[in-house]
Amino acid sequence: MVEIGLFYGSTDGNTARVAQMIEQVLALRSTVHVEILDIADYFLDEMLAFDLLIVGVPTWNIGQLQADWQSVFEEFDQLDLTGKRVALFGLGDQRGYPDTFADALFFVADKMRERGAQLVGRWPTDGYHFRQSWAADGEDFLGLVLDEHNQPELTAGRIAGWVGQLIVEFGL
Ligand SMILES: Cc1cc2nc3c(=O)[nH]c(=O)nc-3n(C[C@H](O)[C@H](O)[C@H](O)COP(=O)(O)O)c2cc1C
Repeated sequence: MVEIGLFYGSTDGNTARVAQMIEQVLALRSTVHVEILDIADYFLDEMLAFDLLIVGVPTWNIGQLQADWQSVFEEFDQLDLTGKRVALFGLGDQRGYPDTFADALFFVADKMRERGAQLVGRWPTDGYHFRQSWAADGEDFLGLVLDEHNQPELTAGRIAGWVGQLIVEFGL
């Protein structure tokens, strides 16, 4: 059995709900077990127990980390994530915050990369409408981006496509 740790922070519950949706799609594979961990309740060193990580980060307060991620962020500096493969997803509001869309995804991605993690699960920026995002790198976001305010009808399909990609990139 492959154990995946899915760590997320969520203030209004959107990222928590999406975490469950991702888990449900991955659980269709009998060789995979996903443990969901709300980082409000754990220290980041719990990440070391998993070889494969999925990390969910909503953007808050105009381009800032969500509060629970903010609280644990310094713990990253004590973590050696060498060899960990990490797929990130981020939630945002492209219409409300078009100049800071899903920025926080980048802050966690960049920090995890700095700590040695290997990022997988890039996702095309096609189909989103925003002016600026730290999470965008060329034609891709650094992970899956979801917008429950403006494009909720696309979420299930985006998750299905992204999980299909992770199955290949994680080698599941
Ligand atoms: C005060 C406030 C500030 C926000 N700032 C941003 C932002 O800068 N960029 C963005 O993409 N979304 C922003 N959002 C939207 C949230 O990312 C979005 O509501 C997300 O679904 C929240 O996830 P959660 O329910 O898991 O906390 C903001 C929302 C609020 C209420």
